[in-house]
Amino acid sequence: MSTILVTGAAGRIGTLLRHAFAGRHTVRCHDTVAPAHRLAGEEWTHGDVADADSLAAAADGVDSIVHLAADADPKAPWDRLHGPNIAGVRAVYETAVRTGARSVVFASSHHASGGHDRDRTPGVDATWPPRPCCRYGVTKVFGEALGRHHADVDGLSVTCLRIGDFAERPADELSLRIWVSPDDLVRAFRAALTTGQRYGVHLISSANTRSLWRTADSNRQLGYAPRDDAEVYAADVDPDGPRHPCFRRPADPAATPDGADPLEVAR
Ligand SMILES: NC(=O)c1ccc[n+]([C@@H]2O[C@H](COP(=O)([O-])OP(=O)(O)OC[C@H]3O[C@@H](n4cnc5c(N)ncnc54)[C@H](O)[C@@H]3O)[C@@H](O)[C@H]2O)c1
Repeated sequence: MSTILVTGAAGRIGTLLRHAFAGRHTVRCHDTVAPAHRLAGEEWTHGDVADADSLAAAADGVDSIVHLAADADPKAPWDRLHGPNIAGVRAVYETAVRTGARSVVFASSHHASGGHDRDRTPGVDATWPPRPCCRYGVTKVFGEALGRHHADVDGLSVTCLRIGDFAERPADELSLRIWVSPDDLVRAFRAALTTGQRYGVHLISSANTRSLWRTADSNRQLGYAPRDDAEVYAADVDPDGPRHPCFRRPADPAATPDGADPLEVAR
């Protein structure tokens, strides 16, 4: 049974994965906050993910680190993002190398390539150059690039999952295209923990009928086979309902006043 450290373990995805990993792995959990419920057998350490000492104690002897801890708000300004999303991701990779962990699974985001989705560009592929739609997305690109560096230089196995819109059900028109169900997200993380690849970036969605993404090769490389489809909820989604600021309308330079931040304009 392998030992896995989950950072950000008290959050939404951390809670999902802890339930999925229980009994299959020895799970170490790290977060600033306490979980709503502790599961049997879990070990918890509390601290800031950017604090290497706190992390090193939690990571000692683990096989893999699932790195979820982040400010996950796409509207977050730089002063909130810098600690968890920049210094934190650096601390995780350096701790993995120092403690001899074999692999890191990095929770990246579809916001790393969200500029394509804002334009509703079809066929988006994780091999395309990143196109972050917000500062949060820029921090995810940083995490992917730093992972590439540690894979090449230190021989760490790094798998970056650009997680789509994770929710029980798709909430809006874009979500019908990029939704990932809880069960499929667990499948993706399980695949990421067992892939033998040195480095990979993967867009993670369910098998959505209206998908904007080309994922077949990437899914095969990862060993991920999604089973759910947002389409079964399509009748409940208002096509003209409210949209996330990052994706509110196609980018249109002619409609953006000179020098204005497109996100500010979209809000
Ligand atoms: N939920 C989604 O749809 C989605 C989509 C794409 C990517 N992601 C990414 O997946 C990861 C998990 O997302 P989530 O929805 O569970 O977010 P969440 O906000 O529910 O959980 C994040 C957890 O990280 C912890 N955390 C934040 N800063 C920390 C710090 N400095 N030190 C230690 N812990 C810290 C928080 O306390 C929280 O428990 C994030 O990296 C997020 O960017 C999520």
